[in-house]
Amino acid sequence: MSFPKTRLRRLRYNPILRDLVSETSLSLNDLIYPIFICEGENIKTEIPSMPGQYNLSIDNAVELCKIAVIKGVKSFLLFGVPDKKDEHGHLACLDNSIVQRAIKSIKKECNNILLIADVCNCEYTTHGHCGTIIDGDVDNDLTLETLASQSVSLAKAGADIIAPSDMMDGRVAIIRKELDNAGYEKTPILSYAVKYSSAFYGPFRNAVNSSPTFGNRNTYQMNPTNKDEAMREVEQDVSEGADMLMVKPALSYLDIISKVKNNFDLPLVAYNVSGEYAMVKAAAANNWIDEQRMIMEIITSIKRAGADIIITYHALELADILNKKNEPKKIYKGI
Ligand code: PBG
Repeated sequence: MSFPKTRLRRLRYNPILRDLVSETSLSLNDLIYPIFICEGENIKTEIPSMPGQYNLSIDNAVELCKIAVIKGVKSFLLFGVPDKKDEHGHLACLDNSIVQRAIKSIKKECNNILLIADVCNCEYTTHGHCGTIIDGDVDNDLTLETLASQSVSLAKAGADIIAPSDMMDGRVAIIRKELDNAGYEKTPILSYAVKYSSAFYGPFRNAVNSSPTFGNRNTYQMNPTNKDEAMREVEQDVSEGADMLMVKPALSYLDIISKVKNNFDLPLVAYNVSGEYAMVKAAAANNWIDEQRMIMEIITSIKRAGADIIITYHALELADILNKKNEPKKIYKGI
């Protein structure tokens, strides 16, 4: 059928009708909020390239979690900003390391909260790479050992989900095996299955001081030109026992999100990364955009592409927007 019988605008005139035929909706249940935890007490240092995001000492992280849970944001991804680093990232495997202590403190004070522990060495190595360096490059198999022991230690501290972000081959299998050996067979693995070597991580690396001191991450993170390879990465992680999958970054990779969603039936997470957040904040600070509308449009597009779950630094702002939208409206005129 064609015009004038068909007028596609008919379904757009009434706002309630627009909502009725809306194909994609956002729920706070689908959001994960990343937080950065540093040593010290009563510390809340804004990350210059990520306005509104902070390095928080454990006491302040606990307070933030309480506020977020009240707003309806219940899932958090924890990153450590340690004050000491070493060659191999061994410090990340200690039971009293920063994230392990944070998990225990948050769990003690907050109920109804889900804590996801990012597993990687880059925040803990002096050279900023994601593993142990041999002959100028990250050695895959040696790195697997630290990743597995970091994972067990985080599970022991109470992490609800283990999320390896290092991109070593075989990490899901060894982490699954070591978690099971240690009695954590109920702890799921959220694999950063498809992680590209991206300029969009810049602000995050400022936040946790994890930029590589030499070279780059191109020998382990994926080349942004590739799509078929993403399927091989996912297949491998699924066969090794991943429970959930991630594509990262999100905005420049919506085609990848869509392809993974169409080919695999595991819950799919997309990471709306630091650089994507920083671009919005920089434009908003200059009054160049309608910030709230842009945040909604970005997160909706990631969902529409096929992500079930979205990790985003906008989570608290989104909670405010969605909670306001869902407030009961006046029904009768005059009341
Ligand atoms: C650690 C890690 C990174 C991010 C999440 N986990 C940085 C990197 O790979 O360099 C990036 C997150 C963001 O940019 O928001 N490997």
